[in-house]
Amino acid sequence: MITVTNVVKYHGPARVLDGASLAIRKGEVAAIVGPSGSGKSTLLRCINGLEEFQEGTIDVGDSLTLAGGQAAPKAALLQLRRSVGMVFQSFNLFPHMTALENVAAGPVHALGKPRKEAEATAKKLLDRVGLGARADAKPAQLSGGQQQRVAIARALAVNPAAILFDEPTSALDPKMAAEVMKVIDDLAGDEQFQAAMVIVSHDLPAVKRIADTVHVLNAGRVAYTGPAAEAFAPGGPVENME
Ligand SMILES: Nc1ncnc2c1ncn2[C@@H]1O[C@H](COP(=O)(O)OP(=O)(O)OP(=O)(O)O)[C@@H](O)[C@H]1O
Ligand SMILES: [Mg+2]
Repeated sequence: MITVTNVVKYHGPARVLDGASLAIRKGEVAAIVGPSGSGKSTLLRCINGLEEFQEGTIDVGDSLTLAGGQAAPKAALLQLRRSVGMVFQSFNLFPHMTALENVAAGPVHALGKPRKEAEATAKKLLDRVGLGARADAKPAQLSGGQQQRVAIARALAVNPAAILFDEPTSALDPKMAAEVMKVIDDLAGDEQFQAAMVIVSHDLPAVKRIADTVHVLNAGRVAYTGPAAEAFAPGGPVENME
């Protein structure tokens, strides 16, 4: 579903991704963990076409390849918007729109869905994240945890092939973080839900619970890939993470 091959990315002189490689299958829940500054956010942003990189390739789905050293064609970026959802630490909702409008916006603008149909789907997704009753609230009227659940509903709305989560709970207090993790847990456990999920999180107990595969990033390289049970074993790669 997603294949990252030898990706190199510089920020100025700093080699932030240093030949990173990993593969994520359809329906898989993959976690990327690693020390602060190891390149986790940068890698997600490269996969999502938000940043260019200098070397290597990133394949998403069957027909889309991003190549290092060249700007992604507009059509590829559009295709990415339709096939990869992203959930950020800071929610990034449109402040002037209601929860419902935020969730419906992608299908209307990126997929050209009729507004009525998009809003009906958006309502179902808000129900799914436990916010059906708050469809008409603006982001400022919602708690951080509720805003993040709206952001997850928004990412789901384009029916993506993959969803990338970058520290989705780290801006939240423990109670709200647990509410958001519950939604992600439910998606991970839902047999019907076939999108690949990639989660970057410092919440290691949550990662251990939901991830199928763990990738440890260290200084811009994937230093370890393995099943969660092995990654979290006593004395294993996660415990020994620098
Ligand atoms: N826009 C930028 N300009 C220059 N350097 C950057 C930029 N964005 C990130 N970096 C650098 O790239 C490296 C990797 O950053 P990145 O945000 O990907 O790390 P991370 O693993 O997500 O860390 P954290 O766990 O703190 O979120 C860091 O050294 C960071 O300082
Ligand atoms: Mg980060």
